[in-house]
Amino acid sequence: MGSPSPPGARSLSPMRPGHDSGILPSYRTRAWSAVELLKNWLAYLGAALSHRDLPEDPLAGGKKYPSLKANLRNLFPFFLRHWKMGAAGAGFIVFNGLLAFPQPLISRFLIDDVILGHRLLLLAPVVLLLLAVALIGRLAGMLQQYILTIYHQELSLDIQEALLARTLRYPKAFFDRNQTGYLMTRLSGDVGGVTWFFSETVVHLIQNLIYFFAGAALLFYLEWRLALCMLVVPPAIVWSSKFFTGKIRALSHAGMEQRGKISSRFQEMLTTIPLIKAFNTEARTLSRLIGEIRASNRLSLESSALGTVTDLAIGLAPDIARLLVFVLGAYWIITDQWTLGSLYAFQAYMGYLFGPAHQLASINLQLQQAGASLERVSALFDIAPEENAGTGEAVDRLCGDIEFRDVTFAYDGKTAVLDRISFRVRPGERVAIVGPSGTGKTTLLSLLMRFYRPTGGEIHFDGRPATDFEVGSLRRRIGYAPQVPVLLSGTLMENLRYGNLEARREDVIRACRTAEIHDFIAGLPDGYETAIGERGVNLSEGQKQRLSLARALVQDPDILILDEPTSALDSMTERSIFAALPKAVAGRTLFIVAHRLSTIRDAGKVLLLDENRLIAAGTHESLLRSSGYYRSVVSYQDVSGGCVSRPAPETPGAFAATPSAKENRYDDTGTGAASSLHRAARA
Ligand SMILES: Nc1ncnc2c1ncn2[C@@H]1O[C@H](COP(=O)(O)OP(=O)(O)OP(=O)(O)O)[C@@H](O)[C@H]1O
Ligand SMILES: [Mg+2]
Repeated sequence: MGSPSPPGARSLSPMRPGHDSGILPSYRTRAWSAVELLKNWLAYLGAALSHRDLPEDPLAGGKKYPSLKANLRNLFPFFLRHWKMGAAGAGFIVFNGLLAFPQPLISRFLIDDVILGHRLLLLAPVVLLLLAVALIGRLAGMLQQYILTIYHQELSLDIQEALLARTLRYPKAFFDRNQTGYLMTRLSGDVGGVTWFFSETVVHLIQNLIYFFAGAALLFYLEWRLALCMLVVPPAIVWSSKFFTGKIRALSHAGMEQRGKISSRFQEMLTTIPLIKAFNTEARTLSRLIGEIRASNRLSLESSALGTVTDLAIGLAPDIARLLVFVLGAYWIITDQWTLGSLYAFQAYMGYLFGPAHQLASINLQLQQAGASLERVSALFDIAPEENAGTGEAVDRLCGDIEFRDVTFAYDGKTAVLDRISFRVRPGERVAIVGPSGTGKTTLLSLLMRFYRPTGGEIHFDGRPATDFEVGSLRRRIGYAPQVPVLLSGTLMENLRYGNLEARREDVIRACRTAEIHDFIAGLPDGYETAIGERGVNLSEGQKQRLSLARALVQDPDILILDEPTSALDSMTERSIFAALPKAVAGRTLFIVAHRLSTIRDAGKVLLLDENRLIAAGTHESLLRSSGYYRSVVSYQDVSGGCVSRPAPETPGAFAATPSAKENRYDDTGTGAASSLHRAARA
C-alpha cells in the first residue's frame, strides 16, 4: 500500500506473492491544489463537451434507442389511464400560478399609496390581504404537491407493473445475455427518471408558461418601453441553452449505463462471496467496484461542469437586463418620471419573465435526462416476449407423447449445441439421458421446457407442434427439477407448493417421502413451516436437491423432467429414491439425466448424447447389444465408480463420423440407421 496510513490505523501484514496485497485500502487523504482543481474542472468540461453521439442499447443487441414517436406510443397509454389525477394536479398548478400575480401589485399599492401616501387606515387591510393571498397560496401549494405525488406514484407503479410483467415474459435467452444487476437498474432506476419527467417537469413547464406570459403582460402595463427591451432576453436564453442540449442527453445516457454496470458489479460481488474469500480476492474485487464507481463519479462531475457553464450562459442575459432596468428606473424616479413602487413591481415581474425563461431552459436540459430515461424504458417495451406467451391453445392435460424431429439448437444461432436430434417417447415412458459433460443434456431438457426455441426442426407434444400451445399452461403440466436446485425465501411448505398452491398436505408429505426428505423435515422444530433463507442457505446441497425433486412431484405433472436430481446424494439415499420413484411417477413420462448405471438400467429408454449428437437410443439391453460406444461408456462407468464419462479415445473412433440427419434418427428399439453404423463399427 503506497499511501501513508492515518494515525492509529493497524498495519496489515505482508501478503504472499500472487495474492491481493491487503484486505482493504487505508484511508487516503488527498490534498488538491487550486490549480489542480481548476485543471480538473476544465478537463471534465472538455470531456463533457466532447459527448456527442447517443450510445447504442446493449439490451437491443447494440441497436439505437427507439425514436421519440415510438417512445410516446409505448408510454402514452399510461398517461391516458391517469389523466384525471394529472388534470387535477394541472388545475392546482394553474391556480397557484395565477395566485402569485396580485402580490407585487398589492405591494406597489402598499408602498406608493399607503406608506408614501400616509394612509394609515389602509395599512391593516392591505397587510391582511397580502397575508390572505399568501395563506391561500400555501394551502393550494400543499394540495398541489399531494395530488402530484399520488399521480407520480400511481404512474410509476403502473409503468413498473407493466414492465415487470413484460420482463417475466422475456425469453430465457435474454436473461442469459444480461447481468441481473444491470437489469435491476434498467427496470427500477430508469423508470423513476421517466415519471419524474412527466410529473415534476410538466408542472414547472405549465407554471412557468403562465408566469412568463402574465409577467410579460404586466411588464407592458407598468412600463411598455422597458418591457419591449426585456423581450429580447428569453430568446437569448433559449438559444444559448440549445447548444448544450444534445451533449447533456448523451452524458445522461452514459451516466445511467454506468450506474447499470455498478449495479451488476455489486450483484456479482454479493453473490460470489465464498469465491472471493476462498481465492482471497477482496482487494481486487473492491478496486474493480471502486473503479466503476469512480467512472460514474467522473461522469457526474462532467455533468456538473457542463451544468454550471450552461447555467452561466443562460443567466447572463437576465443579469445584464436587470442592471439596465435598475439604472434606467433610478434615473426616471430621480427625475420624477416614475415611482419607487413601480420600480419595485417591475423588478418583481421581471422575475416572472426571466425566472420562467431560465427555468424553461433548464427544463430543456432536465428533459434531456428524462428523455434518456424514457428511451431506456421504452426500449424495454420493444423487446419481443417469448414465443406463445399468452397465445396458443391452453393445455389442460398432456398424455406425455413427445417427439423431437430433427431438432437443432444453437445458443448463439450459429454453433449447434444440439445437432439434428430425433427421437420419440411414448406416454408413461421413462427416459434416461446420458452422455459426457457439456454435450447438451441440460440444453435438450431446456428445449423440452420451451425455455428456448429450436434453431431447426420441431418438438411435438401429443402429436402436435409445441408452438400450438400456450407456453405457460404447457409448463404447468411439466414438473422440472433443474440441475442446480433453486429455492426461494419462505417456508419449506411454501417452497414445496410453489408449483401447485392447492396441493394437499398429504400429497406434499408423500412427495417428500419419495424424495427422502420427509424424515429430515419432520425432525425440524417447525417441521414443514421451517423458514429457509434466500436460496436455501441453511440447507445442504443434497437437501436442496431432494426438496427440488419433491417440489416437482408436488406439482402433479404429466411429464417430469429431472436434471441429475441426485448428483449430490450418497448412493444409499439415491437408491431408495429411485426405488420409490417409479410408483410416484406411474403413468407419467419421465426424463432423467443420470450418470449412475442403476438409474440408466431401470429406464425404459436411454438416449446417449455425445458431441451434441444423439449417438444411440433404445433400451439399456438393446444398446448394450447394438452400440459399442454405449458398452464402452457403461463399462468405463463401472470402473470409474459410477460416472458416465467420455470413453478412452480409441474406443469410439467410429462416432467421429457424422451421420446424416436420417442416420441420427432412432426409433424405440434402437435399430435405426445409425445403429447399423455402430454395428458396422463393431464389426
Ligand atoms: N445459456 C447458455 N448460453 C450459451 N451456451 C450455453 C448455455 N448453456 C450451455 N451452453 C453450452 O452448451 C453446451 C451444452 O451445455 P449443457 O448444459 O446442455 O451440457 P450438459 O450435457 O448438461 O453438461 P453437464 O453434464 O455438465 O451438465 C455447452 O458447451 C455449454 O457451453
Ligand atoms: Mg447439464
